[in-house]
Amino acid sequence: MENPKNLIIVIFGASGDLASRKLIPAIFSLRTQKLMPEKYAILGVGRTKISTEEFRKKMSEAIVSFSEEKEPDKNRITAFAEDLYYFSMDNSLSGFTELKSYLQEIDDKCGIGGNYIFYMATPPSIYEVIAVNLAKTGLSDQQSGFRRVIIEKPFGYDFESGQKLNSTLHELITEDQIYRIDHYLGKETVQNLLVTRFANGMFEPLWNRNYIDRIEITSAESIGVEERGGYYDSSGALRDMVQNHLLQMVGLTAMEPPSSLDPNAIRNEVLKVFQSLQPIKEEDVPKHVIRGQYTGSLIRGECVTGYRYEKDVAVDSRTETYVAIKFFINNWRWGGVPFYIRTGKRLPTRVTEIVVHFKQTPHHLFQREFGKLSSNQLILRIQPDEGILLKFDMKEPGAGFNAKNVSMDFHYKDLTNIRVPSAYERLLHDVMLGDSTLFSRDDEVETAWKFLEPIQRAWAKNPAIKVFGYPAGTWGPEHANDLVEGEGLTWRYPCKNLADEELYCEL
Ligand code: BG6
Repeated sequence: MENPKNLIIVIFGASGDLASRKLIPAIFSLRTQKLMPEKYAILGVGRTKISTEEFRKKMSEAIVSFSEEKEPDKNRITAFAEDLYYFSMDNSLSGFTELKSYLQEIDDKCGIGGNYIFYMATPPSIYEVIAVNLAKTGLSDQQSGFRRVIIEKPFGYDFESGQKLNSTLHELITEDQIYRIDHYLGKETVQNLLVTRFANGMFEPLWNRNYIDRIEITSAESIGVEERGGYYDSSGALRDMVQNHLLQMVGLTAMEPPSSLDPNAIRNEVLKVFQSLQPIKEEDVPKHVIRGQYTGSLIRGECVTGYRYEKDVAVDSRTETYVAIKFFINNWRWGGVPFYIRTGKRLPTRVTEIVVHFKQTPHHLFQREFGKLSSNQLILRIQPDEGILLKFDMKEPGAGFNAKNVSMDFHYKDLTNIRVPSAYERLLHDVMLGDSTLFSRDDEVETAWKFLEPIQRAWAKNPAIKVFGYPAGTWGPEHANDLVEGEGLTWRYPCKNLADEELYCEL
């Protein structure tokens, strides 16, 4: 695999969780795989006043705690830590001027040659001030090397603010310098969607309204909001998961084959899907969108706190911790095919999957177990037990012609010797190489917000639209079943094991 050019990665917000839990362990792993440039340095920047030595120690401990390796080798951690530096500053212009000199010092010492990546691992409220000061000090100027900026979601909180953030950034840096992270796109199994669809002649001919009855996408989490109540209460599941992760999965599932693997060829096709999403009218929101909030419950003898009693959450909060949406895509491939998506916290298990339900045969010849109608399904399991499951009917041995639904499954874990890299490893490596395929483009982000706008507006204007309670550990509000049940169908209730369903799952 190609090695990136020599560079410095500057992490703003380096004393925060993201740096220690995800970024530093990911860079450590890339180094172990020899995927880092020959010469590089990591510069942590933050308000906390600590020395480079202390930063190295803290990050070494973070690697022990959060690395995917069971027992990372101590010598390797010590050697890795030598390339870490720390700079304490506020966000003033003078702070950035000093940062510039310090970067030059590291650059000269390590022989880097001017390529910098700036990672904004900070609250979004300070993205703008960082971008302004990078521009004012000339740090984002690409004359002496590439200058790339990585930002984390949320990219605004609605269409207008998303658009404003983009236009402010564009006044300072160009779109091809910006890498908007959606960590779902870094997941190996999400990328595998493209390969499943476009490398296999047998799926693509069936991948349309003539053969597909409906598509269901679930991203369930068993955890609650944990320590993030403050952020989550002003966000909710729609902004936190749907605007980005779920819609990106819809995009990759529904897009047309791109003409090449060029980043813009792929992102153009995803954008076309977003542009074809049939707008949900404000007055139809209660019929198409169900929101819920977890309430306290007893799970296997243990008390689980309700959302309103979580730390930093308002006791009368109406923020949704669950959302399910039914919608259509208005184009030739998908006209009339319903898409059902749902996500929630404190559901029975952590599972993300895409279920393609195929149409039934035109005439039912055979008896089926428990009178159930045949239902061919292709399940693309994003996590855990990553893999693919195909469900179809076979004859039950014995007299007569009884048909039974059976499964054929492929599990990634059966590909021995292949380690599935973490999403951040893949994405950081791509930024170093300048490959923006797996990053959200400005127009994708804005179009996704546009689709959600009527839902946000209806909820804001109309408090009579219910926030249904659901006991922690269940599959969300029962009303979410009405979205599909009205049509005599049910959601799939998956378990952590790909081939199991409707079993009690772990919380
Ligand atoms: C993040 C959300 O983007 O994704 C979190 O902010 C959520 O609320 C997380 O828990 C889920 O990611 P994963 O990779 O665990 O499915």
